[in-house]
Amino acid sequence: MIRINEHYTKLKASYLFSDIARRVAAYQQANPGKPVIRLGIGDVTEPLPPVSIEALHAATGELASRATFKGYGPEQGYAFLREAIAAGDYAARGCPVEADEIFISDGSKCDCGNIQEIFAADTRLAIPDPVYPVYVDTNVMAGRTGPNHDGRYEGITYLECTPANDYVPAPPVAPICGGGAPELIWLCFPNNPTGAVATREQLASWVAYARATSAIILYDSAYEAFVRTPGIPRSIYEIPGARDVAIEFRSFSKTAGFTGTRCAYVVIPKTLTARDSAGAAHSVHALWLRRQSTKFNGVSYPVQRAAAAIYTDAGKQQTRALCDFYLGNAALIRAAMTKLGFACTGGVDSPYIWINVKRDSWEFFDQLLNRAQVVCTPGAGFGKCGEGHVRISAFNSRENVEQALQRIAAAL
Ligand code: MLT
Repeated sequence: MIRINEHYTKLKASYLFSDIARRVAAYQQANPGKPVIRLGIGDVTEPLPPVSIEALHAATGELASRATFKGYGPEQGYAFLREAIAAGDYAARGCPVEADEIFISDGSKCDCGNIQEIFAADTRLAIPDPVYPVYVDTNVMAGRTGPNHDGRYEGITYLECTPANDYVPAPPVAPICGGGAPELIWLCFPNNPTGAVATREQLASWVAYARATSAIILYDSAYEAFVRTPGIPRSIYEIPGARDVAIEFRSFSKTAGFTGTRCAYVVIPKTLTARDSAGAAHSVHALWLRRQSTKFNGVSYPVQRAAAAIYTDAGKQQTRALCDFYLGNAALIRAAMTKLGFACTGGVDSPYIWINVKRDSWEFFDQLLNRAQVVCTPGAGFGKCGEGHVRISAFNSRENVEQALQRIAAAL
């Protein structure tokens, strides 16, 4: 009889946000007269920037005529988008990234999950806790961990993010797991779920660590557009030497409201190498190109045009205004939860507010849902160190956020 990939049996029965959606649906079915406000999953609510809508219309028009019709696009994405990214997101910030080091994709979730398949099955991992669950679950699926004991998978070096380190982990001082230093290190700043940001010095210490140990950093920078504090890096390539040790993931989902439209990208510098078992160096860029050209057929032409439009002057203004709008919500949430007596982090350079509720996070989730009809995300869903916290997302209308905060104040 055909057998399953048994590594899947090590996982929790369902993905965190599917689990929450099911609980909320059950609540709504039982309480049809009580409208729920969702501040759980970070899903945008505001329309696409007008420049992207115009670009979508124009690109759809091109598909209506044989002369301008497009079939399969270039494997790494259209040059017009990769060049706009290289200029707008990197050259403008002094980061040495070339257009042909950028791979356009349909989402950072897929990219973060898929990238690990080009590395060896016994690669040693370091992953923050709490963390966006995709980094952990995809490695479990690939068989890179042992079983889960008490909320921790065997074979992962957990980088604990707690109030003691302001939720920014430092590189390990000694190899912890599997008899050697971690070889693949996941980092995310501004962080999901804590909203914490890393300073230049903190990121530089990770780059130095990766260079010293020949590790690769997988840097998820999906929320960089929310950074407002001067001096906080938006890309790991702002750190000298990062090109030799880091892959960066970015997304248009939150920057430009593309959660449903789907467009993201990965940067893999051509200087980045990893070794085979005989010690020979291989280009990671070449491996990823091989993987993508075999398993992926790109993002649709109109969507890539819509993404490229945000690099125009009008597009930059519109996306900045969009992120500022959500940051306005974040400031209201952080202020209201602080006033209620909770210690909060995030919500300044990030759309997420991480709240130390000092009690069981699923219990707090149930309390908010039942008493205030507000959905948050329980911290335990992001890892063992997330227990005692909840995450509130700023992605919603101003009206809903204000109403949610009034309901929470009344309920607590
Ligand atoms: C989140 O709520 O953590 C994000 O929306 C998840 C995602 O981007 O996939």
